Amino acid sequence: MDYFLITIKYIRVKQKVILITGASAGIGMASAQKLIDSGHIVYAAARRVEKMEVLNKRGAFILSMDVTHEASMREGVQRIIAEQGRIDVLINNAGYGSLGAIEEVDLDEARRQFEVNLFAVARLSQLVLPHMRKVQKGRIINISSIGARVYEPMCGWYHSTKFALEGMSDCMRLELKQFGIDLVLVRPGFIRTEWDKIAHEKLQEFSMSGPYKETANKMVNAHLNYLFKYLASDAPIVADTIVRAVESRRPHARYVSGRASGSFILARKLLPDSLLDAILMKMLSIFGKENKTTSCQTVKISA
Ligand SMILES: NC(=O)c1ccc[n+]([C@@H]2O[C@H](COP(=O)([O-])OP(=O)(O)OC[C@H]3O[C@@H](n4cnc5c(N)ncnc54)[C@H](OP(=O)(O)O)[C@@H]3O)[C@@H](O)[C@H]2O)c1
Repeated sequence: MDYFLITIKYIRVKQKVILITGASAGIGMASAQKLIDSGHIVYAAARRVEKMEVLNKRGAFILSMDVTHEASMREGVQRIIAEQGRIDVLINNAGYGSLGAIEEVDLDEARRQFEVNLFAVARLSQLVLPHMRKVQKGRIINISSIGARVYEPMCGWYHSTKFALEGMSDCMRLELKQFGIDLVLVRPGFIRTEWDKIAHEKLQEFSMSGPYKETANKMVNAHLNYLFKYLASDAPIVADTIVRAVESRRPHARYVSGRASGSFILARKLLPDSLLDAILMKMLSIFGKENKTTSCQTVKISA
């Protein structure tokens, strides 16, 4: 009987109430699945609720949430508190890359990207933190990118959002320590999800026909021929890292995840800017060459 009660208590302590955004695809979907399988109570949020039916069948609670809409974020958090009485972990995963030359990308589109990749992270954190502070514990996990350290042409706004996310997260980590709340960053590398399709659609929209078209073409080719082909990992790899960040008693401030991610970050740390610039441009010219099957003229980029 004692053993039974201890087991129940252990399960209760370990089982976390988790809100994860961007759960309708890619990293968010894979993470939600693994978190459910690990026995946690998962609230999966995204705009395309129909895509999350598979999570619902596995036991997740589904939230229709647009992270740029105040009401849907507020209602989502209120529902979790009403049903569970607490939120132990917030995983800010929703995000997208809008590529194009800084000169050409419409500033409204750049602002939209900041709205999703940065301000939504801040707003959802504001909504959950009072509940975490009340119990003096909790964890916020922000999905950043190796793009918060390394850089590429045509990706300026996306990288800016992730650089900003890391700056904000580092400050928050110090602010939240006094309340027993952890702030953790996860930096995926190149991961096979819907991310690159959306990013290339935006690149097509802004930079495929003007003065930057040659660089834009090389960028798509380098992504499709090489980076997302040979250096990419599948979403469950990042999901494993996220589960580790959720369950670890003493989480690191940062986790890197995915093939070659550590090497990119190390290169940024060790190499002078001029050398890294030269390497990145050389990679672009070697891997950016058109090939019959993946040239950006032949790749169908559609919604
Ligand atoms: N894939 C990579 O190579 C890579 C590398 C480094 C970092 N990351 C980061 O990892 C995170 C997940 O990306 P992913 O690769 O899994 O991309 P993905 O397959 O495109 O999934 C993105 C998710 O974000 C959600 N989302 C986008 N805009 C939203 C909005 N306004 N409101 C609510 N949800 C929204 C999407 O759901 P709905 O459209 O249904 O709302 C979707 O579930 C992002 O933060 C991304 O920047 C990805």
